[in-house]
Amino acid sequence: MKEQIQVMISEEEVNARISEIAAQISEDFKGEEILVIGILRGGVYFCTELTKKITVPVILDFMEASSYGAGTESSGQVHITKDLIEDIAGKHVIVVEDIVDTGRTLRLLLENLKARGPKSLKLCTLLDKPQRRVVEVQVDYNGFVIPNKFVIGYGMDYAQKYRNLPYIGVVEGE
Ligand code: IMP
Repeated sequence: MKEQIQVMISEEEVNARISEIAAQISEDFKGEEILVIGILRGGVYFCTELTKKITVPVILDFMEASSYGAGTESSGQVHITKDLIEDIAGKHVIVVEDIVDTGRTLRLLLENLKARGPKSLKLCTLLDKPQRRVVEVQVDYNGFVIPNKFVIGYGMDYAQKYRNLPYIGVVEGE
């Protein structure tokens, strides 16, 4: 009954990579202010660790969304279950997500955000599973490209469990 968890990316590796991405974002937006949107719930650990290491001024906000018909086919609509508090018009916006899988949810979410008139809009994801991609999404900052495996930890869940693991793991058997 108890799932076995295999470590795919260690806590040290994840943290080191997050420092590198934070340094890159800080460099790219030198002298600017950025508005970071953490995507709930999976992106929350990555978002908080990343923003702690960014050296330019950060406005932090969160959003939760799902595409209708998740698990089967997307209807082409995004359901925003928690919207932003901030107005993003004219701001440099970075969306921070845990993983890009089929790309359906993010594609719709990014279209929704683009319509609000940000000065720039970038996507930052901790993991990218390109083998699973169904719709094209431009990833501007990526932590790790991973194979087509179901991963957990660092915000990602398996039946709502394991989000709080400080590393990226794979569930083996049940
Ligand atoms: P998609 O890119 O629209 O297919 O959906 C991406 C979302 O699916 C992510 O934000 C995660 O919440 C979830 N997801 C996709 N792959 C995994 C995985 O391997 N483990 C945990 N959640 C995943």
